[in-house]
Amino acid sequence: MNVPNTLTATPMTNGNPMQDYPAVVTEITEDAVAVATYMLAFQDVDVGQQFNFSAGQFNMILLPGIGEVPISISSDPGTPQSLGHTIRYAGNVTSAIARLQTGDIVGLRGPYGSHWPMDKAIGQDICIVTGGIGLAPLRPAIYEIINKRDDYGQVILLYGARTSADMLYTDEFDTWQNHDIQVHTTIDRAEEGWSGHVGVVPMLFYHLRLDPANTLVLTCGPEIMMRFVIYEALARRIPRENIYVSMERNMKCGVGFCGHCQIGPKFMCKEGPVLSFAQFEPFFGVEDF
Ligand SMILES: Cc1cc2nc3c(=O)[nH]c(=O)nc-3n(C[C@H](O)[C@H](O)[C@H](O)COP(=O)(O)OP(=O)(O)OC[C@H]3O[C@@H](n4cnc5c(N)ncnc54)[C@H](O)[C@@H]3O)c2cc1C
Ligand code: FES
Repeated sequence: MNVPNTLTATPMTNGNPMQDYPAVVTEITEDAVAVATYMLAFQDVDVGQQFNFSAGQFNMILLPGIGEVPISISSDPGTPQSLGHTIRYAGNVTSAIARLQTGDIVGLRGPYGSHWPMDKAIGQDICIVTGGIGLAPLRPAIYEIINKRDDYGQVILLYGARTSADMLYTDEFDTWQNHDIQVHTTIDRAEEGWSGHVGVVPMLFYHLRLDPANTLVLTCGPEIMMRFVIYEALARRIPRENIYVSMERNMKCGVGFCGHCQIGPKFMCKEGPVLSFAQFEPFFGVEDF
């Protein structure tokens, strides 16, 4: 398998930073309530062969005449010819995406943004903490860990959702566990047939023994969840520079032109979405965080 390094993959621009390329919907998988994964392949084979991405980066998906949305790449960085995007139907553009069929064409540009620190994590333990659709941008990191399993130490996934029906990729959990990734799940409220944990994701930390000096925490989910994940990680003395968050703020251009994604002086589309808490801490007190 082609396993890329984890240097930031740069966008394909062809001279125009907002250049999009036609891509075909090759497969659609219903993952959860109002969430599906769209596999996309560039129509132009040469474009497809040039494209690669790092775990945590995102693409802009364009529906001509409707609009454009930033969506994380949720598939294996080792097979960038086939690009997964796991999408929750939220509003105007994503509802239009819900009407797509296999064979339909969308515009695709990217990859954009920063990525999970998979090189820095080599030789370290990794604790992935995520909620709901937040698992989508972390799935490429899980694939990368599996592709190079011996490079990493203990790997733990803490994953929560409102209900069991909102959980993504449940049919992959066994494979992940077979690759020595501990999977701990929780749902917000008890439901019939559920025998696992009940409660919010940060509570899963109470069941863990972590080696704080040698653990990286990677988290993505609702901002309130990430706030408590940061508190729990800091309480376990994990250094600020080893706690990584993905800040999926509203974005329009994806390339640093419009300012929609700005937090303080930082453009989340370029310097983010993945930042260490050490980079992000000055903005921890700002609205919505
Ligand atoms: C870097 C990045 C990666 C993303 N990855 C994914 C992904 O993998 N899967 C996925 O389903 N979504 C992802 N999103 C969110 C997705 O881009 C928005 O849901 C989408 O733009 C909504 O567009 P819309 O036209 O369908 O909805 P709109 O009609 O524009 O909005 C519908 C509602 O969603 C809210 N909304 C819009 N954007 C966001 C956002 N970024 N965060 C929270 N609420 C928002 C609006 O305020 C409004 O309340 C990502 C966003 C960013 C910035
Ligand atoms: S989305 Fe336009 S500057 Fe970041």
